[in-house]
Amino acid sequence: MRRHGYARDALIETLHTVQQSFGYLDKESLKFVAASLRVSLSQTYGVATFYHFFTLKPPGEHTCLVCLGTACYIKGAGALVDQAEKTLGVKCGETTPGGKASLLQARCLGSCSVAPVVVYDGELVGNEDPVHLQEHINGWMHA
Ligand code: FES
Repeated sequence: MRRHGYARDALIETLHTVQQSFGYLDKESLKFVAASLRVSLSQTYGVATFYHFFTLKPPGEHTCLVCLGTACYIKGAGALVDQAEKTLGVKCGETTPGGKASLLQARCLGSCSVAPVVVYDGELVGNEDPVHLQEHINGWMHA
């Protein structure tokens, strides 16, 4: 938004960035974008629901979002993705067959100081390691 000078016509591009970062557009994000760009919430919802490439819900019951931005990548995000793919048995961008969990990736979540970063169901965990990631995901799968 800052890059576009908070211009209202940056709405679609902003929503794209939000979706890229979090995997989907939740209510809070839509409200935040609408308020920041001074666009009505109904217009923001309208855009988010009109274009098929926007999704308002995470596809799985749980979401594991691994940041693959430069800082996270250098600090070992690749190993986190490998572990997540192995534990869930799906590739990045996919959901487990029963719909239990989705594995998503983002570019930079703005928390590079605690890289590598993983967001579990909207909760950001910094300095993540493959062992903890596996434990966290296994907790979902065997709940
Ligand atoms: S690169 Fe991952 S938070 Fe910035």
